[in-house]
Amino acid sequence: MNGGITMGQAQIGVYGLGTMGSALALNMADNGFQVAVTNRETDWIKTFVDEAGPLAKNLTPHDSLTAFVQGLATPRVILFMIPSGRPMDMMIDSITPLLDTGDTIIDGGNANFHDTRRRSAMLAEQDLHFVGMGVSGGESGARSGPSMMVGGTDHSWTQLKPILQTISAKFEDDPCVDHLGSDGAGHFVKTVHNGIEYADMQAIAEIYALLRDADSWPAAKIGALFTQWNDGPLRSYLVEISGKVLQATDPETGTPMVDLIRDKAGQKGTGRWTAIEALILGQSASTIEAAVGARSWSSEKTTRTSAQPLLAANTNPTDLPDTDDLQAALMAARILGHAQGFRVLQAASDEYDWSLNMPRIAEIWRAGCIIRSTLLDDLAEAFRDDLPHGELILAPTIRARLDTSIGALRRVVATAISCGIPVPVLSAALAWFDSIRTARGSTNLIQAQRDFFGEHGFQRCDKDGNHHGPWNR
Ligand code: 6PG
Repeated sequence: MNGGITMGQAQIGVYGLGTMGSALALNMADNGFQVAVTNRETDWIKTFVDEAGPLAKNLTPHDSLTAFVQGLATPRVILFMIPSGRPMDMMIDSITPLLDTGDTIIDGGNANFHDTRRRSAMLAEQDLHFVGMGVSGGESGARSGPSMMVGGTDHSWTQLKPILQTISAKFEDDPCVDHLGSDGAGHFVKTVHNGIEYADMQAIAEIYALLRDADSWPAAKIGALFTQWNDGPLRSYLVEISGKVLQATDPETGTPMVDLIRDKAGQKGTGRWTAIEALILGQSASTIEAAVGARSWSSEKTTRTSAQPLLAANTNPTDLPDTDDLQAALMAARILGHAQGFRVLQAASDEYDWSLNMPRIAEIWRAGCIIRSTLLDDLAEAFRDDLPHGELILAPTIRARLDTSIGALRRVVATAISCGIPVPVLSAALAWFDSIRTARGSTNLIQAQRDFFGEHGFQRCDKDGNHHGPWNR
């Protein structure tokens, strides 16, 4: 089944011809690379190559793993686009006996970075290289230019760089791909990308809920507003597509499509991993956690339906702030959500010795990926200057933006609370902003409570050492 290409000529192999694997293989072929392809279900392979049209000349199909491996130039580069978890471990077991020193295998799925670290260490013992690579942009991104977050060794990056820089999205000619650090760095950065994606999507949905439920706006009118916002500082892929989907009509009924979609959101795990890893690292990515929680509660449709007539809202409806306030509130929440994501990245970089380059991460997210936005260009710029105390939200340009938008976020959250409309991400963003700008918080009382019941001790403001209180137990 070798399509006429001399053995050993393919520059890269793609295993897994599902949506993302096919799109990446076609992108590589389109850019002139010779790509060996194969798939677990071998009957897909011929269909894929037949449908590739003129690009088939750059695709070498194989129906056995051995032939696929033998069809690659050495040292080999093999990209796996298969389900994460056990299938990847099984694949590693099957392919490693066929590989040689210096070969690289890449997992391009949304894998848990702990698995990636384990696999990297395991393959390193056999002088093989394992790359965890985050790929963002969905099917169309994969086909025409994704953003890619690459982990692994320098050796693998040297092999991969020419291919990935060519097939990636470009932001003003700058390829949206880079080698971000060793072992699990690429998958971790992709995980946090997805966490930010969750928070951003939920914040947009909360603004939609306010317009729909507090001011009775029809879907198309909200969509038109988002489309208009996409020409301003909120410009981003997610605001753009939100505008489009809100203006779409169901061809069968003539009803706005979103009005017919059940309000139960799925999730595959990356948002949840971000929140979990943040907590493990001593952080709290509260906007991301709020977005993950909102999806979980959305799934409890039956409970919510039963609870609605039983739990009195006791609201005090007030008028919705104007659309300029809503726009600014969304901007503030977006800045704070991104800042939390970058804090998680910094904490992980310190913990795992990745030396993550924050401006570069912001740069490779400016095009191709799902969270691409003009804000990311501003964040990259802010990161390039010395950040006061290493904090993005203290960068002069970011502070100035928060200064002009936080009042709006406060008004919008206050209105949502008065009206009984849940805005978990908007309110988490505001609560974090208020926590981080409060020099003297309230945990002195927590310390006193801990000392009372557990003799944990506390530090005093006026002298050094560990102290206990004069509690009257
Ligand atoms: C991307 C997306 C993509 C996908 C995830 C998250 O960057 O292209 O993040 O990886 O949307 O599968 O999806 P869930 O919402 O299903 O968790």
